[in-house]
Amino acid sequence: MSEIAGVGHYVPDRVVTNADLTTLMETTDEWIQERTGIRERRWFEEGKDTTANMGANAARKALEMAGLTPDDVQMIVFATLSPDYFFPGSGVLLQRELGIKDPIPAFDVRNQCSGFVYALSMADQFVKTGMYDTVLVVGSEIHSSGLDISTRGRGVSVIFGDGAGAVVLRPSTRPEHGILSTHLHSQGEHAEELIVKEPGSNRNNRVDYVVANELEMYPYMNGQNVFKHAVVRFPQVIKEALDHNGYQPQDINMLIPHQANLRITQYVQQKMGLSDDKIFSNIQRYGNTTAASVPIALSEAVQEGRIKRGDLVCLAAFGSGFTWASALIKW
Ligand code: UT7
Repeated sequence: MSEIAGVGHYVPDRVVTNADLTTLMETTDEWIQERTGIRERRWFEEGKDTTANMGANAARKALEMAGLTPDDVQMIVFATLSPDYFFPGSGVLLQRELGIKDPIPAFDVRNQCSGFVYALSMADQFVKTGMYDTVLVVGSEIHSSGLDISTRGRGVSVIFGDGAGAVVLRPSTRPEHGILSTHLHSQGEHAEELIVKEPGSNRNNRVDYVVANELEMYPYMNGQNVFKHAVVRFPQVIKEALDHNGYQPQDINMLIPHQANLRITQYVQQKMGLSDDKIFSNIQRYGNTTAASVPIALSEAVQEGRIKRGDLVCLAAFGSGFTWASALIKW
């Protein structure tokens, strides 16, 4: 079994409030708060923050909590939908950023909002089989540079924010404590419901195409349909994790859902019958940071002392793909 030996997060300094957005597009603080719960989000600073170095900042904190250094890391799994480069992936950049000289494996996972839980599951398999002892799992995103921040894009751009979170996975030090199970799903028939289409490779000349169709580089979301699926898949995948381990919803001490929309979180909370102290929300301050949202929330929950040794912690995510996933952890 593997356990989370350390967790950390990093968010850019620049706070962008809903009031700030009203100067860029036709929107209101009321609309954003009522529909999403978001009050503010962070936007990166060009020249300072990158997807890889924000991930590295989060990773350093996770390593410090685990009492480890970058040289102890044996593998890197990096979840992002906003990599620094088209290729290579941000995993190798993080390796460089942390100054890891050993040629350890590093790779990216592209599963959007559920990317971190997928990445955690992959890392868990490597630790469980004994192939690697210390695996860094990172979720980091820069959305703000790719959003349509005009009124045309307001349905999507008010939601997303930038940030990074990381955990260190190690073999469990206590019997029956650690990651109990992970559960992964996808349904590709909905691939275009939440998408950044370009620059795609299926063009004779993709560069000419994106120059002529630059609007297709902005994210598109069929918000209502994504919402409808999210409120079904979240409870389903949480229940799957509980059933698999013989637990009931009331056994959960802390549910860390992907921070997609406060209304979705509240619906899930009600459906699972969880009291306010058993579910974590920070979307109010960060918006939706896709692959970074679960580790940022987990890191804050730990920092605030809301997760104690022995607690049953559930991570759950749903998003573009559609993909969804959960992890049940005995902390
Ligand atoms: O993270 C992965 C998964 N993502 C999600 O789970 C997101 C799921 N979807 C949602 O959270 C919601 O669908 C949104 C928050 C994105 C949108 O909320 P909604 O209640 O579905 O609104 P809507 O898109 O149906 O738009 C309602 C109205 C429209 O105006 P009309 O056509 O009714 O006149 C929009 O043009 O609100 C308008 N609108 C806005 N108005 C002010 C859309 N965006 C904005 C805005 N400010 N930012």
